[in-house]
Amino acid sequence: MARTWGAKISRAPLHSARARVWCAASSALWLSHIRKTHAMSHASALITIMTKAARKAARGLVRDFGEVQELQVSKKGVADFVSLADHRAEQVIYEELSVARPKYGFVMEERGEIEGVDNSNRWIVDPLDGTTNFLHGLPQFAISIALERDRQPFAGVVYNPVTDELFWAEKGAGAFLNDRRIRVSERSDLSECVFACGLPFAGRPGRERALKEAERVLEQTAGVRRFGSAALDLAFVAAGRFDAFWERDLNIWDVAAGALIVREAGGMVSDIEGGAKFLTEGSILAANANLHTSAKALLSDG
Ligand code: IPD
Ligand code: CA
Repeated sequence: MARTWGAKISRAPLHSARARVWCAASSALWLSHIRKTHAMSHASALITIMTKAARKAARGLVRDFGEVQELQVSKKGVADFVSLADHRAEQVIYEELSVARPKYGFVMEERGEIEGVDNSNRWIVDPLDGTTNFLHGLPQFAISIALERDRQPFAGVVYNPVTDELFWAEKGAGAFLNDRRIRVSERSDLSECVFACGLPFAGRPGRERALKEAERVLEQTAGVRRFGSAALDLAFVAAGRFDAFWERDLNIWDVAAGALIVREAGGMVSDIEGGAKFLTEGSILAANANLHTSAKALLSDG
């Protein structure tokens, strides 16, 4: 591609006005191509593999999301259809990642754990985080893929195919939204901060505690949002859109990718009590570094 464009530019006759316009347009295109290629050069082979799997699965999810509206007539029909979409997306991701790294193991929301030959690397996959949103035609859902290396998140991709926002990070290399570097917000004054949370719905434990926590946060902050995808909530903290996010009773596939993206964007991630068990115990608090201590105090106060 590079050689073809270069050759076209150098062969252009430079004497006519039309040719000069053509030449300028080609150069602009060429520069934009270089910029994009340069931005994508941040992405390692590993991120490229993860991104490819996410985008491939996303094509099916977007098609199925379009169908959801049609199926709203039958309650059962929609739920079954969404569950099928979820399984299909997981299958695509499983196949893509298995071909690219045949020895790695998996933890997947639908299939559970699959041991790999290489026991220091495993993929952690949520093929559709925000299932209820998807079911209701709300475009706030994502594919979340993390690579855990030696039991620590090493790379993460969270992709919302409707908005085409791909959040990604690799340990030590920073966090990105598509080709742009992202950072957490810097707000520390609680009265200016927007928190996101997850609240337990029917059949989930801990509603009373969650509502008390939300009440304390609401009393002191600029607001609380409940968007319905933990992976995207974390990605939004990384991008500085939310100042903090907390939730209890999550699974490793909900948070593994997003937590790494927050850390690589300069934020802090712990369990709600401030410990390191957010991947295994299910409670998580992610915040910008200026806010994490006061957010923790606010949530544990009571
Ligand atoms: C759910 C979402 C939601 C959170 C739930 C999760 P799912 O994941 O992340 O925001 O509140 O606890 O289970 O079921 O849509 O993959
Ligand atoms: Ca999930």
